[in-house]
Order: sequence, then structure tokens, then C-alpha cells
Amino acid sequence: SGAAIGPAQAQDYPTRNITMIVPFAAGGPTDVIARIVTGHMQQTLGQTIIIENVVGAGGTTASTRASKAAPDGYTLITGHMGTHAASVPLYPKLAYHPSKDFEAVGLIAGTPILILARKDFPPKDLKEFVTYVKANTDKLNAAHAGVGSVSYSSCQLLDSVLKINPTGVPFNGTGPAMNALVGGQVDYMCDQIVNAVPQVKGGTIKAYAVATPERNPSLPDVPTTAEAGLPEFQAQAWNAIFAPKGTPAPIVAKLNAALVKALDDEGVRKRLLDLGSVIPKPAERTPDSLKKLVDSEITKWSAVLKPLSN
Ligand code: MLT
Repeated sequence: SGAAIGPAQAQDYPTRNITMIVPFAAGGPTDVIARIVTGHMQQTLGQTIIIENVVGAGGTTASTRASKAAPDGYTLITGHMGTHAASVPLYPKLAYHPSKDFEAVGLIAGTPILILARKDFPPKDLKEFVTYVKANTDKLNAAHAGVGSVSYSSCQLLDSVLKINPTGVPFNGTGPAMNALVGGQVDYMCDQIVNAVPQVKGGTIKAYAVATPERNPSLPDVPTTAEAGLPEFQAQAWNAIFAPKGTPAPIVAKLNAALVKALDDEGVRKRLLDLGSVIPKPAERTPDSLKKLVDSEITKWSAVLKPLSN
């Protein structure tokens, strides 16, 4: 327990390697975002940050583990809109609560959602996609990163707007799901832009629309859902750093300061922006702002998502 950590230890923090748990497969959006910022944060903190990918159950396995870790600043997690919001309504017996069992450290990036499909999926544009998926719902396969993940929850929202019920195909992250989409083994996916920019630019998959009010500068030719005729579908995820509840405030403050410094770094900003992420404004970078975001996102997704029956 955290009772053993005195003010002097918090002052000296960090004196050894820090583990950053990523709740999805390596190479996917959360992993990529976590590696970009922790690569800079470890310079500020003077200690190595080791990424540990802990997969399963839409990121909730890793989040449960992180919630029970010693609250000493040496185990952190990069959570997101799925693990730290959408999982609450989906899993009535969730073993952690995103705000009650974690200290919010800070928001890393907003990640707009794209509607993607395999390269040879017949519809040419979003209008054709809507007609096609309604006519072929029982033949469709939709890839996702597990119940509770961003890709799962975003496509649940899309499916409810379109009143379709495709077969879901779960992966340990949208990194591997993207490989299946490129390989043509699944039909479509709702994914965070960070995971899709190189493939869309390379023409190995199709992007029908970005589900945000504005087009994204990283993919200027991809229309918004409103432009393409489906304004009801709006979705932007986010990735953020959390520490177990009870992590001393001075440690949370040091981690937040290192994150803010990373978000101000030219190189970090360029890498995040090239992948289509939205870098939070200064007022959105505080622990308190993240805590408010988590609570409002739990409320928002609880109105949209139904609990699993099992
Ligand atoms: C990942 O890193 O694989 C994603 O964030 C998964 C998701 O939530 O869709």
C-alpha cells in the first residue's frame, strides 16, 4: 500500500525505472501514443519508462491490474475513452472504477474516429456504405479491440445509428485488427486515426469518413461524416495517463509536468500531429481537467452503450 511513501520519497521521485502499462497490443494507437510521449518524459524525469503491453478484455484486464498496483509512481497506465469510460456501462462487474480507483495524471491526445474498410469492400463512398451494410448486415464482419475498447464502442454507436448488427471479430488491439483489415480478412472497423494514417495514405485500406466536425489535416481528402451524409455519427476518442489511486500528489504533479513538457516539444508535436492526433490545449492538460473528462465521458457513454448480457 501507499502508506509507506513519505514526503521525502515523493521529493526524490523517480529513483528507478517506471513501468507504463499499455492495455493493448504493440503497434496499435495506444501503444504508439504512449511511446511518443514517454520517450520524451523519460528525459525530463531522468529514468527509463518501460512500456509493458498487457492485453485482454478490451483493455480492462490491464486496467484492473494497474488499479491494484502500488501507488508509488512506478506503475502507470495509458488508458483511454474505452478503458476509462465506455467500459463502465459495458461491464456491470468491472473490477475498477476509472475515476475512483485512479489518479488522473493528464490527457495525452484526442484521437478522431474513422470509418475504415478493406481495400476491395464494394462501397465507393459513405452513402454507398450505408446502403450496402444495411442490405448485407448478416454477412458483415467488423473488427474491434475487444468489448470496452474504443473501436468496439465507436462501432456500437455507428451500428445503432444505422440499425445494423454485424458479426464482431475481436483482436487484442487495433494494431492486429488493422493487419486483418489490410489482409482483407475483415470488412470494416471504427478506429482511431493514429492507427490508420499510413495505410489510408498508402491505399491499403479505405477511409469513408472522419467522425468529427472538421476534416483532419493529416488526411485532408477524407470527408467528415456530416459532409458525407451521416452527421449523426460523431466520435472522438482520447488517450491519457493514469496512476493508481493514492499516488502522492507531488508525484502526480511531477508526472503531469513531464507530460506537459513533452506536449510542448516540437518533435513530439510533429509526430502526434502527423498521425492526426489532437494535442490538448494548456487548460485541458491538468489532472483536474482529465478527471472531469473521465466523469463526463462515463455519463455520455452510459447513455449509449448497453451492458453485456453475460
Ligand atoms: C489499441 O491501442 O489497440 C486501441 O486503442 C484499441 C481500441 O481501443 O480500439
